[in-house]
Amino acid sequence: MTATSLRPSLSPIELLLKYDKPVPRYTSYPTAAAFTGAVGEAQLRSQLSQPSEEPLSLYVHVPFCRHACWYCGCNRITTQLGSKVVAPYLDTLARELELVTAAMPRRRRLAQLHWGGGTPNYLNAAEQARLWGLIARHFDLESDLEASIEVNPEFLSRDQALQLRELGFNRISFGIQDANPEVQRAVNRVVAEEQLRRSMEWLREAAFESVNVDLICGLPLQSPKRFDTTLDLVQDLRPDRISLFSFAYLPEQLPMQRKIAADDLPSQRERITMLENANRQLTSHGYDAIGMDHYALSGDALALAAREGRLHRNFQGYTTGGELELLGVGPTAISQFTHLTCQNERNLKAWSAAVAAGRLPVERGLEVWDAEVLERRELIKEVMCHFQVTLDLARFGQEWCDLQALDADGLVQLSERDGRGTVTVTTEGRWLIRTIAAVFDPQQRQRASGSRLV
Ligand SMILES: C[S@@+](CC[C@H](N)C(=O)[O-])C[C@H]1O[C@@H](n2cnc3c(N)ncnc32)[C@H](O)[C@@H]1O
Ligand code: SF4
Repeated sequence: MTATSLRPSLSPIELLLKYDKPVPRYTSYPTAAAFTGAVGEAQLRSQLSQPSEEPLSLYVHVPFCRHACWYCGCNRITTQLGSKVVAPYLDTLARELELVTAAMPRRRRLAQLHWGGGTPNYLNAAEQARLWGLIARHFDLESDLEASIEVNPEFLSRDQALQLRELGFNRISFGIQDANPEVQRAVNRVVAEEQLRRSMEWLREAAFESVNVDLICGLPLQSPKRFDTTLDLVQDLRPDRISLFSFAYLPEQLPMQRKIAADDLPSQRERITMLENANRQLTSHGYDAIGMDHYALSGDALALAAREGRLHRNFQGYTTGGELELLGVGPTAISQFTHLTCQNERNLKAWSAAVAAGRLPVERGLEVWDAEVLERRELIKEVMCHFQVTLDLARFGQEWCDLQALDADGLVQLSERDGRGTVTVTTEGRWLIRTIAAVFDPQQRQRASGSRLV
């Protein structure tokens, strides 16, 4: 084998500046941008009717939030109505679960369950127990079920932490975003440091197997100095996993973000410095870097899966669950199968009306049967999850050619043997993993889309 890599001559900051253009996050390939209305209920029905012995992963969307955080790009509804909106919502979810399971020839097992949002802890204890019960009525929960939930720490209490664990959740994630009070005020999300510390204590007391915190880099009034304070707090809290997102600022599409003054946003150089500082601090304190924006303590299941080449990626990001089929319920929820990806109605009313009419509430999606597209999906997954991929050079000559430039910048190492080329992502390349994956995406070569890297 011959390694052809040259030493990188650009610093990580220069590399990020050079390659910083919109790239998809590749939680699927082809990406959600390729969804069309040609896929609907019929395709999901046909998929669900296939007999399978394999367990499923179930995603349940809980769209409600008590107030709007101005940066937020998630599909959510701000309301103070509490149980008045939750009760009918759970009625509709119950009906949707009946409809999807009635479309299956037999009862399926669940290996993974995730409640996302919005804010799943908008539901009170009785509502959470009702939703868990609905799921258990329709699926056999495996004894080692990986059950995870996203919560807003602002409204977390000790009782709630203990109840969620008691219900069966063993993984939990909460958003910190930034711990600095001025940054918090600038995004309408004020959570006192004391509440963040207490939240972590309660989650530890409840003995969750894995606790994740979300951070966002690039928020208004953030600076490398201020962000260091957030990183210090995170070191103290010592979560098992950290998601460090780059702020996706899309005021044209997300009207709430217009409350954020563009002048208050940190410069690109400041954002890269914050990402670099976070990377240095976390990796020198026992965290493994996973892809571009995830960190996990070396003993955590996600870090183990990454080291053992078992990492998988789906619409929820990196997972340890292997190639499980993903079924999503609730508005906007996405279901993912080998040949079919589909998304539920994004509008709450449209979703409710479809379910009330006895329809599977699919709004759009994509079917993929083309062998080349499936092969490209596999190559992108190998890059994103295993940081190494081997390809047939006779068929992927153009890609191999494009990879030479990334090799020259030290982002990958290339080697050739018997007409096959191996691409190995370097430590520097990890930051640009999406850019490296994009080499195998012909649509991306024609027209850049997605969100900026930093
Ligand atoms: C659906 S939210 C759930 C979190 C939970 N509701 C909370 O408030 O803690 C998931 C995460 O997406 C991230 N997020 C939301 N909007 C974002 C944006 N515009 N750019 C980057 N990350 C964003 C935040 O880190 C957030 O914690
Ligand atoms: S960050 Fe969480 S609580 Fe805030 S608006 Fe988004 S989903 Fe709701």
